[in-house]
Amino acid sequence: MYQQGLKGIVAAQTKISHIDGEKGILIYRGREIRGLAERLSFEEGAFLLWRGYLPNAEELQEIKTQLLQNRGLTQTMTTVISSLPEEMDMMSVLRTAISAEGSAVYSWKPSVDQAIRLTAVIPTIIAYRSSLISKRPFLEPNKKLGHAANYLYMLTGSTPSKAVVNALETYMILTMEHGMNASAFSARVTASTESDLVSAITSAIGTMKGPLHGGAPSGVIDLLEEIGTPDRAESVIREKLQKGEKLMGFGHRVYKTHDPRAIALRNKLMEESGADSSLDLALHVEETAIEVLKEVKPGRALYTNVEFYAAAIMKSINLQAELFTPTFTASRIVGWTAHVLEQAENNVIFRPQSEYVGEIL
Ligand code: COA
Repeated sequence: MYQQGLKGIVAAQTKISHIDGEKGILIYRGREIRGLAERLSFEEGAFLLWRGYLPNAEELQEIKTQLLQNRGLTQTMTTVISSLPEEMDMMSVLRTAISAEGSAVYSWKPSVDQAIRLTAVIPTIIAYRSSLISKRPFLEPNKKLGHAANYLYMLTGSTPSKAVVNALETYMILTMEHGMNASAFSARVTASTESDLVSAITSAIGTMKGPLHGGAPSGVIDLLEEIGTPDRAESVIREKLQKGEKLMGFGHRVYKTHDPRAIALRNKLMEESGADSSLDLALHVEETAIEVLKEVKPGRALYTNVEFYAAAIMKSINLQAELFTPTFTASRIVGWTAHVLEQAENNVIFRPQSEYVGEIL
């Protein structure tokens, strides 16, 4: 049976996460994430996905220390990153820098320790490259700060406020894992050949780079900026749909109702920053777009996806648009590595078939 894009085909059995797209539910290791993500730290979320349960105090301290100790860049990485052309985008930089990590340490089988190292170093790669491009001195990771706070510190040079860290941390936990999406599938396919974790993650980063997967938040900012004021929302949205364009931040392969992560982020944003004009605009655009989509695309069940409110959070922490997808990558690395670990536990090489529809001469 041929199914384009493998839509609806079960490609693996997993205990990592479960999505009920009809009901709008996302579960990490048996626990519903909405309500939980707002209370956890990045380190707890990562531990849960890798190990399958929430850490006790001692385990939490241990994983915090391990993540902290693995933040540094190798000499090879700094040399490679510095030698890349200035115009190279951050996702390509990440893909290349992670490749430069490859060594015998990463030979089969993948381990949680390897996953911790790759997770710990991604924010530092992003911050190092950003400092090079903007000709700012590079700030070494701050040992006093947790994973999310340190990322913001390295990017901005100041100790971020609790509210800002909370917003980013909730975003990062909510986007750590999402079932058999294209990048997790890429990672599992690469790992299924008994290739190393670095190669699997490099495949995943390349897949994440595409605008249909990881690129939406920048598109949402463009949309919000083009709309500018609430009174223009309906006309801009209608014009885009008439031209056959897709509205960035709407629609999802799996969720056929509201994305639970979008709801959690919207709540978090309101809780942290109160009503501000850009949030008001985002709320109005969301409402208008859903109404217009119902009319123009009846029966398609198109709602806001996580990227819509992620864009609002990114804006509230003043993150440049080009860092949106890399920041998404800094959280999704947890899910990718969890998938590779699971794949390695019961590995069979992926080998689907293709249906020949060409000529036979
Ligand atoms: N804006 C307008 N129309 C949309 C739409 C959007 N964001 N998303 C889907 N549609 C429409 C399609 O044009 C199609 O209409 P048709 O039946 O008249 O041809 C119908 O809904 C089904 O689209 P399809 O592409 O098959 O849906 P999908 O579920 O396979 O696609 C996405 C999912 C995410 C690829 C798609 O919704 C999209 O491109 N969204 C914008 C990008 C985005 O926000 N990505 C981030 C995902 S986290």
